[in-house]
Amino acid sequence: MRSKGYQGWLPDERRIEDEANAAAWRPLLGRVRAEGNFSEGPGASALHEWTEGVLALAGIRAELTTSAGPSVLVAGSIESAASDADELKALPLAEEAYAIRSGGRGGERYLILRGGSERGLLQAVFHLLRLLGSGASPESLDGLDLTESPRNALRMIDQWDNMDGSVERGYSGGSILYRDNRVLPESERIRDYARLLASVGINAISVNNVNVHREETKLITSALLPDVARLADIFGSYGIRLFLSANYAAPLELGELDTADPLDEGVRSWWRSKAEEIYAAVPEFGGFVVKADSENRPGPFTYGRDHADGANMLAEALEPFGGLVMWRCFVYDCHQDWRDRSTDRARAAYDHFRPLDERFKDNVVLQIKNGPMDFQVREPVSPLFGAMPHTNQVMEFQIAQEYTGQQRDVCFLVPQWKRSLDFDTHLQGPGSTVKAIAAGEVHPFKHSGIAAVSNIGSDDNWTGHHLAQANLFGFGRLAWNPELTAEEIADEWSRLTFGPSSRAASFVKELLLESWPVYESYTAPLGVGWMVQPHYHYAVDVDGYEYSKWGTYHFSDHAGLGVDRTVLTGTGYAGQYAPENREVYDSLENCPDELLLFFHHVPYTHVLKSGKTVIQHIYDSRFDGAEKVENWIARWRELESGVDAQRFAHILERLSGQLKNARQWRDVVNTYFYRKSGIPDERERPVYA
Ligand code: GCU
Repeated sequence: MRSKGYQGWLPDERRIEDEANAAAWRPLLGRVRAEGNFSEGPGASALHEWTEGVLALAGIRAELTTSAGPSVLVAGSIESAASDADELKALPLAEEAYAIRSGGRGGERYLILRGGSERGLLQAVFHLLRLLGSGASPESLDGLDLTESPRNALRMIDQWDNMDGSVERGYSGGSILYRDNRVLPESERIRDYARLLASVGINAISVNNVNVHREETKLITSALLPDVARLADIFGSYGIRLFLSANYAAPLELGELDTADPLDEGVRSWWRSKAEEIYAAVPEFGGFVVKADSENRPGPFTYGRDHADGANMLAEALEPFGGLVMWRCFVYDCHQDWRDRSTDRARAAYDHFRPLDERFKDNVVLQIKNGPMDFQVREPVSPLFGAMPHTNQVMEFQIAQEYTGQQRDVCFLVPQWKRSLDFDTHLQGPGSTVKAIAAGEVHPFKHSGIAAVSNIGSDDNWTGHHLAQANLFGFGRLAWNPELTAEEIADEWSRLTFGPSSRAASFVKELLLESWPVYESYTAPLGVGWMVQPHYHYAVDVDGYEYSKWGTYHFSDHAGLGVDRTVLTGTGYAGQYAPENREVYDSLENCPDELLLFFHHVPYTHVLKSGKTVIQHIYDSRFDGAEKVENWIARWRELESGVDAQRFAHILERLSGQLKNARQWRDVVNTYFYRKSGIPDERERPVYA
């Protein structure tokens, strides 16, 4: 039997229960007339989701009539809706956009959903189901008149699934797509994933790990393309376009050529015919995601070529079919000598890519991680984002909680993503925010948006920690509309998941909103990052990466800690920002506390803007973090009677694990810095000297 978590935030139980309510809803939801193509694809999904959703939420099986026409669904009093419906049908709407209007005459109520296409209609249906599932009353829908269109054109999910069935940085079981080097035949689970993604507006998915090993390289061969086509159909029926991560050296890896040099004519023609073969099998194919010259993956550097040469070669092959190359900018030296103080990993993406602006073809999209390092709990925004006005860009987030608790500790990442999206780069004057750049509003990008690494796996509740579902939900909602607040998103998810007016929903919302600051408060301090166990990246190990080749150091000694990235005395990284931001980060006085150790090496006695010394901040925040988790557990215990037993126990178990982790971090970090600095905690709490 599926657990409570399997359905995610989608309708799975009666939310409209008492008789009066059912009586009010029945005339509105009991009759539906739909015009469009409902025989297959997103249209069929829209109708299916509507009928099943209404049945689950209200127990109403709608009487349905369909005909061909312009993607419209009218519920309730169809006759009185006629003139409003005609008006909406005439509304010019982009393909994924939709309009919803309610109305009524006398006692007759109606709802009209109109999509710019069947894909838009599907989004309208999910919008309405969110309203119904989070506690709308028939009256609250009165006067509804809205038009919605996604702010970001590309809203993409990257699976890091391997064909052996494992998931790189997966914290919720194995792959739902592959096992034993085969694409899984069973498709219900995959279809349900497509539903979850579509319900929050995702419109693209790359289905294999960015590290494309030998088996995954074969996904673009005739043996596996029929399986890829099947996946593309499943996701396509929910309006989601399928991409593949490509191995840059595929012609070599598949034993067909002896070079992958992007300027070699043989290599170019190999990719051109490969693209033809792929599109013959998968006509709606989106394109490739490519991790090249990054963490030991092959790339154009091997042949003395640069990233524009490499990306353009693939782009040329995909161009006739409208395909894109999502070229990742996670390029840095992962064989650094820790003794070398001049090389700074944070600089790498900007240094590699910025000089290449204007060189990329217009079906290349650079995929840039949100921070310059690697998805830490706190990083500044990557200075590369927006710094190449002539090159398409998407921002990359990580929903998988690699460095943020691995779906064992709660860490709701929407507030962190909002920080990035709201950041003003000042690259084209004030207002050049990341969200405006991603939306293509600052530079005339042909393709842009937001991508993120998925956090799901074969666990019955998809995400390991049940509360980690909020991150997947939140990513989609934010990619559609970056103006939504973290609070709105946490509120919506909690209500859809635990019931609109339940005590659990209101506590979970509060907990989610506190969870990122809490996670930060017991892990690496003030933006310095890492201090985690190497490779594994969960538990504390302050010096785990300090003498390694990965370029991720904190440089703590008896006198102080932090990385000097200033222009004058440091690595110069701060100089990669526009002057307005450079001045903030470069100066010890102006740099915000939370990023102090990312930009500056300071003594333990340095006084923060908060009024505390760095060392006292380290002690205090680690004690506070662990205490907050303790408090969550006490509050969660009080909710036992209001939550189903399975979810209650599961969340309690995860919170207890989180407390153990938080205490370990607290004690190791505090003891470490007490031993280094010799400065005791003002409040004389235990450190283990
Ligand atoms: C991190 C992560 C890797 C991943 C890489 C990437 O370094 O630990 O597992 O492959 O990011 O984004 O490519």
